[in-house]
Amino acid sequence: KQIELAVIAGDGIGKEVVPEALRVLDVVAEIHGGLKFSSTYHPWSSEYYVQHGEMMPKDGLSHLTQSDAIFLGAVGDSSLVADHISLGGLLLKIRREFEQVINIRPAKQLKGIVSPLGNPQNFDIMIVRENSEGEYSSIGGRVHSGEDEIVIQNAVFTKKGVSRVINYAFELAQKRSSHVTSATKSNGIVHSMPFWDEVFKEVAGNHGDVQTNSEHIDALSAFFITKPQTLDVVVASNLFGDILSDIGAAIMGSIGIAPSGNINLNGKYPSMFEPVHGSAPDIFGKGIANPVGQIWTAKMMLDHLGEHEMGRILLGAIEESMQSGIKTTDIGGNSSTSEVTDEIIHKLRNK
Ligand code: NAI
Ligand code: MG
Repeated sequence: KQIELAVIAGDGIGKEVVPEALRVLDVVAEIHGGLKFSSTYHPWSSEYYVQHGEMMPKDGLSHLTQSDAIFLGAVGDSSLVADHISLGGLLLKIRREFEQVINIRPAKQLKGIVSPLGNPQNFDIMIVRENSEGEYSSIGGRVHSGEDEIVIQNAVFTKKGVSRVINYAFELAQKRSSHVTSATKSNGIVHSMPFWDEVFKEVAGNHGDVQTNSEHIDALSAFFITKPQTLDVVVASNLFGDILSDIGAAIMGSIGIAPSGNINLNGKYPSMFEPVHGSAPDIFGKGIANPVGQIWTAKMMLDHLGEHEMGRILLGAIEESMQSGIKTTDIGGNSSTSEVTDEIIHKLRNK
């Protein structure tokens, strides 16, 4: 089986951790025997912008459509180009044009990494975030000025958008512990959230085997800290999911280990996998970036491509490496980026 990857390392530590993850994927392919990755590299980045006046060529997206998945590092170098231009011209453009309407982010306690909540908590959450509408709409505006100024920001919730993200969450739950928690706020947000609850109930009715509950987003945020082990799949609107996934990354121990997937559901375009972290200019070039976020992202991509067994083996190798103490400084170790990757590869080969 040949898997075509479109690879965009991007800026900063993206350029350091993406090659590391590809090194690991090559070993995964070798162990599997029947798997081959063929990568096409795209140099689209802030440096590319400086040379060409755009983040990617005009026909850039057409170079990605034939790939099985897009593997992205991080985008953003504000010393070269403003963040809203770099992220807007590359990352957000791909998410939007390729209809990657769902964002998934695990918040799972990895063996060998101490959660700031204390050890062991044994939480294993998958946050399913609506990625195309909701609170992040451009509808609204400002009228009047000075003391009389009024600003309106509308949120857009469509039946299609809400039901597809909730359905996705239920289908995912059926492959996990069969429990879905809905993030709501229908006690305070009187139109969109009661609608969200309605759709949630409707979809739940079609999935009798899945247990459910609804929590207000404020209480749910606290539960991520106080009892994360009670959560399995958590489904949330764009804004609520954004906030919950940062809490999720925080309780895991470092933003440097958190992965994510931007999922296309209609099969017309590839999905995109990227770590949660950005380009980390403060540590770029020092060889100390944690490669685990990018490598775990590769595991999510393997799952998405149907290679669940290899995904499971890879996560096991990551955990064993962490347990052996070969870690970067952000999670309490003193190893370099490549030493961590080498150790993960070593564990992989010994599985
Ligand atoms: P950031 O995630 O790049 O860094 C935040 C902090 O976490 C920094 O102290 C950094 O050193 C640390 N960190 C991040 N990844 C790490 C890793 N793998 N290993 C060890 N430490 C790590 O977020 P920040 O500083 O807000 O943004 C920097 C640039 O990245 C900006 O241009 C921003 O727009 C961009 N960005 C891009 C994202 C993307 O491509 N999806 C997401 C977030 C930010
Ligand atoms: Mg965020």
